[in-house]
Amino acid sequence: MHQHDSRDSSPISLLSSAWHWWRDTAMREGHFAATRKLLIALWEFVRDSTPQRRRQRYGDADYDWDHRVNTTSAALNWRDRLLGIFYSPYQPTEAVLFREMLEALRDHTHADFRDFVFIDLGSGKGRTLLMASDYPFRRIVGVELLPALHQAAQDNLSKYRSASQKCFTLEAICGDATEFSFPAQPIVLYLFNPFPESGLRRAIANLEQSLRDHPRAAYVLYHNPLLEPVLSESAAFSKIGGTHQYAVYASR
Ligand SMILES: C[S@@+](CC[C@H](N)C(=O)[O-])C[C@H]1O[C@@H](n2cnc3c(N)ncnc32)[C@H](O)[C@@H]1O
Repeated sequence: MHQHDSRDSSPISLLSSAWHWWRDTAMREGHFAATRKLLIALWEFVRDSTPQRRRQRYGDADYDWDHRVNTTSAALNWRDRLLGIFYSPYQPTEAVLFREMLEALRDHTHADFRDFVFIDLGSGKGRTLLMASDYPFRRIVGVELLPALHQAAQDNLSKYRSASQKCFTLEAICGDATEFSFPAQPIVLYLFNPFPESGLRRAIANLEQSLRDHPRAAYVLYHNPLLEPVLSESAAFSKIGGTHQYAVYASR
């Protein structure tokens, strides 16, 4: 996997990200539709930049107040918010929903988390990594593309203290998660819409290949599963639970 140097605060070019996004969209939907989508996205970006919208985004900051960390989507600079249009906008998972998903996974599978590596592809500022550490995972790994978010995740990991923490082996990696090589251990993969369809297909194909190379248990927790057909069409996974907010898949 290509990893970025986290000391360099902006190795991802805005122009080339916009160009690749436009070209991929134009290939699927045509030039006119791609240009229209780009203009709409830019208009929404401008609307979202008003002080009132920014204040609204602080609605996700309760977790930060409780744990003295910085995982809110409000404290992002304009460049990282703009890059979010071309990859996936940063939004942290709500704590209550995260607990619900992990309890659902445990209820459906009776998995002993001590055997599993928790992996969040597209881990943003690392909130899920902190929340997952309340469970006794073998280790916890997050992969984030944008260096500024990755840096915030590293700061959060080093600051976080919790009486309920059960896993202390946490790692944040900066790089393209669609190229992530999965460790040869049982896996709980967490996805909160980090990729467009092509990226999700690549990440799932990597996991399928890894399961063929090293057969083992793997579960996928897919939060806000907008591209669920990518998983439901996979011969390697079957759906074992979920609600309108998330889906739970298990390796066959
Ligand atoms: C909706 S946010 C989810 C953040 C985090 N997983 C959570 O639940 O709190 C999606 C994240 O995926 C990241 N992302 C988008 N494309 C990526 C890629 N190819 N590799 C790694 N991260 C990516 C975005 O920068 C963003 O931080």
